[in-house]
Amino acid sequence: MTSTGDTARFMFMKGAGYYSRSTQGAKDVIDLATPLVLEALTRVEPQRGVGTFRVADFGAADGGTSLDMWRRALAELRAAGPARPIELFYTDLPGNDFSQLFRTVLGQTEAKTYMDEVENVFVYASGASFHDAIFPAASLHFGFSANASHYIVETPCKISNHIHMVGASGAVRAAYEEQGRRDWERFLLARATELAPGGRLVLINFGIDEAGRFLGATTGVSMFDAFARHWRNMAEDGVITREEFAATNFPQCYRTLEQFVAPFKDAASPVRRAGLRLELAETRIVPCPYARDFALHGDAEAFAKAYLPTLRSWSEAVFNRGLDAKRDVAERAAIIDEFYRRYYDEVIASPGQHRMDYVHAYLICAKEP
Ligand SMILES: C[S@@+](CC[C@H](N)C(=O)[O-])C[C@H]1O[C@@H](n2cnc3c(N)ncnc32)[C@H](O)[C@@H]1O
Repeated sequence: MTSTGDTARFMFMKGAGYYSRSTQGAKDVIDLATPLVLEALTRVEPQRGVGTFRVADFGAADGGTSLDMWRRALAELRAAGPARPIELFYTDLPGNDFSQLFRTVLGQTEAKTYMDEVENVFVYASGASFHDAIFPAASLHFGFSANASHYIVETPCKISNHIHMVGASGAVRAAYEEQGRRDWERFLLARATELAPGGRLVLINFGIDEAGRFLGATTGVSMFDAFARHWRNMAEDGVITREEFAATNFPQCYRTLEQFVAPFKDAASPVRRAGLRLELAETRIVPCPYARDFALHGDAEAFAKAYLPTLRSWSEAVFNRGLDAKRDVAERAAIIDEFYRRYYDEVIASPGQHRMDYVHAYLICAKEP
């Protein structure tokens, strides 16, 4: 099966462990959601089945942020079904640093692996897009995905005055929302096919909450507005071209809770007809760990040094993608470094205004028995 769409061709988190080293917040989100995972696994009733129990982490990046969650989930599974082999599949796009993922999971980094704690666990990876089925029909018992479903197959159009759909309005915003609607349904239908009867999904999705808040836009400076402002200033200063500014668009859609649950509402919808139903849908906020630390130590430079890498770990590929293909590697690196340096200077000048709070819609879905 081939991965369609532009996002699958260029998207990746910063490699060599940079992503999970710099992204404590995503780990916090996953660790705090572990009780939901354990509860959903209990409902799958692993003790009642026989044979291999298959679980998957969709959009896992380098595997570091979910390592402790899987440790607890695998221990729970092992206790519930002592004789069942467990297959854990990590999935991400082809550009992902899968070598780093295996080094992490197999205990070759400073992170503490679960492999020597839980017996009879087999780990695999897939580079196929989660917008298509990755596993044979009815073969997956449990699926997990955090901080990933906001990626869309491709950007439907350019956003002339911003870099993210949260800064767009009118027809442009509507085009991103429509792409987001189609891709969400596609994601769910793929999971509905893969899930075994009674299987569960725990999905932690970036989104827009009931108060209109989203990642990095809870109070103070909005992170995506700051990205757009610095990138636009670089175009005005002649560091990048206006075409490059216009070509820089995150292939993401932030959905509201209403948009997340829409495919489950109508009994005649394709998702419901495919046998997927909703067990939980709620929004939550997990505070930015770096802003929390700053409130304790008050050191603006230390804050900016911790905060900018977390932004850079997931956004750099998008800014790099916006640059003209004719630019060489060194030129690109210099532009990207300058971009994050400008943001860094802003954070040092007004540290109390910056925080990347995590705003999510949490969903648990079940495949009908
Ligand atoms: C922000 S990272 C989240 C990583 C990890 N799940 C976490 O919460 O820390 C989003 C990941 O989703 C991956 N991703 C984006 N679109 C995808 C797709 N269509 N199929 C699989 N993975 C995808 C990205 O490559 C990236 O590694």
